[in-house]
This record gives sequence, structure tokens and C-alpha cells, in this order.
Amino acid sequence: MTAKGALRPRQGILDIAPYVPAKSALEGSEPVIKLSHNETPFGPSPRAVEAYLAEAPHLSRYPDGSARALREAVAKLYGLDPARIVCGTGSDELLALLAAAYLGPGDEAIYSEHAFLVYRIVILARGATPVVAPETALTADVDAILARVTPSTRMVFLANPNNPTGTYLSFDEVKRLRASLPDSVLLVVDAAYAEYVRANDYEAGIELVATARNTVMTRTFSKIHGLAALRIGWAYCPDAVADALNRIRGPFNVSGPAIAAGMAALQDRAHEKRSAEHNEIWLGRLAEALSGLGLTVTPSAANFLLVHFPKGNGHSATEADKFLHSRRIVLRRVGDYGLPDALRMTVGSEADNRAVLDALAAFMGAKASARP
Ligand SMILES: Cc1ncc(COP(=O)(O)O)c(C=O)c1O
Repeated sequence: MTAKGALRPRQGILDIAPYVPAKSALEGSEPVIKLSHNETPFGPSPRAVEAYLAEAPHLSRYPDGSARALREAVAKLYGLDPARIVCGTGSDELLALLAAAYLGPGDEAIYSEHAFLVYRIVILARGATPVVAPETALTADVDAILARVTPSTRMVFLANPNNPTGTYLSFDEVKRLRASLPDSVLLVVDAAYAEYVRANDYEAGIELVATARNTVMTRTFSKIHGLAALRIGWAYCPDAVADALNRIRGPFNVSGPAIAAGMAALQDRAHEKRSAEHNEIWLGRLAEALSGLGLTVTPSAANFLLVHFPKGNGHSATEADKFLHSRRIVLRRVGDYGLPDALRMTVGSEADNRAVLDALAAFMGAKASARP
């Protein structure tokens, strides 16, 4: 019971299940193969590291609060208007700011069944109501989303591609979603993995934001640019949305070293290209090899794969996870995403990918031959 007058957080906050990050370490001091966070195996560009280190003598200075140089670098690369870009401490912060600006008690926000968990958190944090739309074949379903729109709907969050499924919606489908949503609904297209996508029918959101109303695209430096620790993301927004976000964000939300490293990372096109090519090759190789072991793999457009294990029979995801730990390998359990029979594997270095394949071959083989 709450004592009279006791301090309580606002409505919705205590309904939030705190985000539990993927495991990144195991007991013991031996090295771990960590493919649980969708990080790049190439690390950041050396130019980004150099730019970061060059900021060390200036740590007593506040950064430019508007991150103008970084916005201009992003705008130049993608042909955007820098005034419509807002930078944040990771795209997570931008998702939270969007919810803060547009959601309150009584409002509804929709996301799909196995969508990135942060959407639910930022919706509940504003006292609004999360509405879950079922997916088809582990992919966001535009009709299911539209069927859940009510007069109270204020936002739709769409991860494209989605984490942890790796599936994506074509540009046509995203356009159809936008065109069928009321103008008063803000569509947030979270394109954290856009740089990895090779599909011809994919569009990250730049064209959509340019041509549609009330649509925002969020992007991150945490994935292909390898700067997850620095926490840098950006959103491309309509003017009015950028204005709202700029009113409520922390005045110096992106740090000086992050601005410098982000700018340098954008310039190293060769580094990005190499990462994307490696990813494309290994997505295919891993999917084929894992299928060859009798596992089901959801086709992925991102830098990770969702691997489905059979229930029971000694081959479950829980047992696979335990077996992998015995080989010092950590993948992502995804029970909290409603996928208890799957593990999410980030595409790693060639050596790490091979280590996972060897381990899973041993796991499946050993268990198979141990079967009666
Ligand atoms: C779909 C999606 N969106 C956003 C993020 C957040 O990225 P960051 O806050 O590091 O920019 C992630 C990170 O895993 C993600 O998977």
C-alpha cells in the first residue's frame, strides 16, 4: 500500500518493464565472442577515433548546443536541410523526445508485435497507451496497424528494418501506411539499420519525410558507424517537429567529442562500404549454414539474424544459449520480444561467425546423435 502523500511516479511509469540490455559478458576472464548487441565487427573508422581524441584538450568547454557542424555534415551527405535535422544522444533519446512532444495520458501510439522494445517504454513514460498490431510472417503489417487507428491515435512507430526480426517493409508499403494514416498521426520511421539494407524496394525515410506530412525518420551512429558508446543519433523532421524537439531537448545534449567523431565517421565512406559489403556476404552465408543445420532463419535486411530453434527435444533456444555460453559465445535471447524460441545473432567478424557456426553444428549434431 502506498502511504498517503507518498511520492509516486506519474501514470504509466510503474507499468514499464525496465529495458534489460542483452548479455555482454560471461563469468570468468577468458575472452567472449559477443554478438548480442548488433555492433559492427569493424569498430569505428580510425578517422572518427582520431577526431574523438583530438577533442580531449577541449573537455572544459560546452559543445555547440545545436550540433550545427554535425547536422550540416549529415545534410551534405544526404542532401537534406540541416534546419530539419535534430541530433540526440542516440536515436533512443530522439524516440523519447518525440513521445514527450506528442504523447500524453489518453493518447494512443501503435507499434507492431515484435517491434523494438524502446517504443513501449517511451509511450508508457508519457502516460499514453501502447497499442500492439499483430505481424504477418514476423513483419509489420500495414493493414493490421491501420485497423488499430482510433481517434485517440497520435503516433505510429515503425522500425524499418525491425530489431529483432530483421524484416523490413518496402517503400511502397511505408508510403501506403503514411497515406492511409490521418494527417494528425505522427509516423516515426526508425531506420537504425538503413545503411545495411541492400533491397531495391527499400527507402530509409528521406524521400518519405520530404514528400509526406507528419513523418519523421530517425537514424543512428551506433550501428554501421561503430560509435555506440558515444550515443549519437539524428532525426530528419518536418520543420514544426524539429522546432518542438529543439524546445524540449537538453540544451547541450550531444557532446563535443561525439559531434567531432560523428562528422569524421560520415566522411569515411570506404569504412562504411566495407562494413556493408561484409555484412551482405555474411548474412547470406550464415543464413545458408544455419538452415543447413536444420534451424529456421528469418530473412534479414539488417546486421543480425533471428534464428529459431525447435521447442523441446534438447534443441531449444534456452539450451542452445547455454551451450553457446560454454563456448564463450553470447547471442541475444529475445523472450522479452515475445520470441522465446529464438536467438538473435549479430553478424560478426569472419572468425566469430565461424565460431558460432561450429558451436551450433556441435550443439545440433551432439544433441541429434544423443536422441533415442
Ligand atoms: C530499431 C532500433 N532503433 C533504435 C536503436 C537505438 O540505437 P541508439 O540509441 O544507439 O542510436 C536500436 C538499437 O539497438 C534499434 O535496434
